[in-house]
Amino acid sequence: MPLTPDSELDLLFPASLISSELKAQLHPDLHIRPLASTDYRRGHLHVLSVLTIVTDPGEAAWVHQYHAMRSAPSTYYTVVIINRSTDMIVGVGSVFIERKFLRGLGSVGHIEDIAVDKDQQGKKLGLRIIQALTYISENYGCYKTILNCNDSNIPFYEKCGFKKKENEMAKYA
Ligand code: ACO
Repeated sequence: MPLTPDSELDLLFPASLISSELKAQLHPDLHIRPLASTDYRRGHLHVLSVLTIVTDPGEAAWVHQYHAMRSAPSTYYTVVIINRSTDMIVGVGSVFIERKFLRGLGSVGHIEDIAVDKDQQGKKLGLRIIQALTYISENYGCYKTILNCNDSNIPFYEKCGFKKKENEMAKYA
């Protein structure tokens, strides 16, 4: 199935927030855009499953979560890379904007859940996703963009321009 145009989709945020310079750097077979309300059917959870355990909640619950995120203004930004000939997702990533009282009511961008389909890894899709998310975060005015990752992904994030700083602590419920 060929690519569905952005204009026919309900998107999580305006597509204009993705830099046109970055869009031009993608391979012509690929398209980058915000997550759409119908992306459950384009393999969103399948791509995310390369990252961690994904329990399929079913389409209705997925769509409910999408609308909950969409109704929080200027907070959730998920981008997807689509294969134009199949209209399926091959890469995904998110940045969440946190508003603060410090740094003159500053904001921080938190990058989360970056995943590229196994067959498509090593083709700069991860890099483009990080560039798109960092652009959104900086364009919003965030004074920093941060993320957590395991040791094996440190070289990838260094290639994306990030530096190791401090430690992550976690307490799972
Ligand atoms: N070790 C060393 N270098 C790496 C690694 C790695 N693990 N991964 C990528 N790179 C390098 C590439 O060689 C490339 O270098 P180059 O510019 O010199 O050619 C550069 O980083 C950019 O790599 P991409 O091709 O953009 O990487 P890819 O598209 O494969 O995406 C990703 C990287 C997202 C880590 C992908 O492999 C993936 O989905 N892995 C499984 C899920 C995962 O671990 N996600 C990240 C979790 S952390 C988080 O979500 C915040």
